[in-house]
Amino acid sequence: MSSTSLAPLRGSLSVGGDKSITHRAILLASIADGKSIIRGENKGIDCLRTLRCMQQLGVPSFVDSQGLVIEGRGLRGLCPVLGSASGVRLDCGNSGTTARLLCGILAGQHFPAFLFGDRSLSLRPMERIARPLRQMGASIVGRSTPVTLPLQIAGGTLHSISYRSQVASAQVKSAVLFASLYAEGESRYTEPFPSRDHSERMLEQMGASIYRQESPRGAYTLTVEGTDRLSPLDLTIPGDFSTAAYLIAAALLIPDSALVLRRVGVNPGRTGFLDALRQMGADIRTEPVFCSSPEPQADLYIRYRPLRGINVGGSLIPRMIDELPIFAVLACAAEGISRIRDAKELRYKESDRIQALLSGISALGIKARALPDGLEIEGTGELLHRANRTRSILSSCIDTRGDHRIAMAFSVLSLLYQEPLPLSDVSCVSISAPEFFPLLKKLLASC
Ligand code: S3P
Repeated sequence: MSSTSLAPLRGSLSVGGDKSITHRAILLASIADGKSIIRGENKGIDCLRTLRCMQQLGVPSFVDSQGLVIEGRGLRGLCPVLGSASGVRLDCGNSGTTARLLCGILAGQHFPAFLFGDRSLSLRPMERIARPLRQMGASIVGRSTPVTLPLQIAGGTLHSISYRSQVASAQVKSAVLFASLYAEGESRYTEPFPSRDHSERMLEQMGASIYRQESPRGAYTLTVEGTDRLSPLDLTIPGDFSTAAYLIAAALLIPDSALVLRRVGVNPGRTGFLDALRQMGADIRTEPVFCSSPEPQADLYIRYRPLRGINVGGSLIPRMIDELPIFAVLACAAEGISRIRDAKELRYKESDRIQALLSGISALGIKARALPDGLEIEGTGELLHRANRTRSILSSCIDTRGDHRIAMAFSVLSLLYQEPLPLSDVSCVSISAPEFFPLLKKLLASC
């Protein structure tokens, strides 16, 4: 998608529900005691995968006038509806969150399961969750070492653990946290920097006993007690900050834009992108919205302003990990050099995002180079707005690699070009944000 003129984007929008929170709500409601109601859930393919897997594990769910209703079976009440000798076959599609978080729950079950996914997911590291879950007593076997999908998991009686993760990953943390609910006694988990804490917040709401600690050097430790019972959820899911980020960027790229995004989730573990943008000189105001949910929400007011390049790294990275592709796009249009460091994790996402960004950006004639743990980009400043508007300089496609965030990032950059940038595949955006193109189209139509 691309505009033929650089008319400012103006309007007030709401994005769909948060993907990370929706995955957790489906998984945890499924093992709660009783009926949960979830409103405003993310409607992307990834979350549907999680819902489908839980249905296969014997958890009824349906949508009624109140929202998504999940009839929880209790921590130990899951019962696969179909299975073979190797266990129930669970298709995680493209979703790393489904595969990793589900393993945390399956580790505590007394039946085997077989997890598989698409090509991208089958390349992604699973050893990071397999190692602690094995230490707790689960068996996780794949075709290779270190383990990847497809894998077989057989759980059972788990013991508590004290585990220090090398990566700040909410998926690893959540897998261990979920398994710890099944273990007797107290488990401890430490990560080098705090990653998003949606699992902790939701479990606290459901009655689990969780204690958090941050060290002066930034490491984050969770202590969790095993339990017999989780209370059901009554939850309204806020707008997905990660989808909002791509629309915020559109407004920051197009002169005179003014955009309002309503009821966006602003959990501090997710909003590192706002901190980075403010450092770049962006004009963004957040107005908190009162809600009874444990997840904070705000209306975001964004006004166009030219941006300057900055360096991002350290503890900011886990707080903006899914926004780094769109940060890179903004860096292209900013004045001066931007650097992303400490972000090796980008290589293990739905695609190698460092390579995907580098090849797309370079193909557009913008200077960039890959770093072992990130990317350096020479922003063109206002030049990008002026020089490239007359024609698209590309003869071949930018390869989105079937990665939803790469597709969204280059779709936003495409707004600056008079002819749409040819992108290999944008249908993958419906993995997280089926509403993204309709919202962008609506904004462009109202210019
Ligand atoms: C997610 C955590 C992040 C993020 C992913 C969703 C989650 O991954 O990149 O899109 O819902 O827990 P890591 O925390 O593993 O880096």
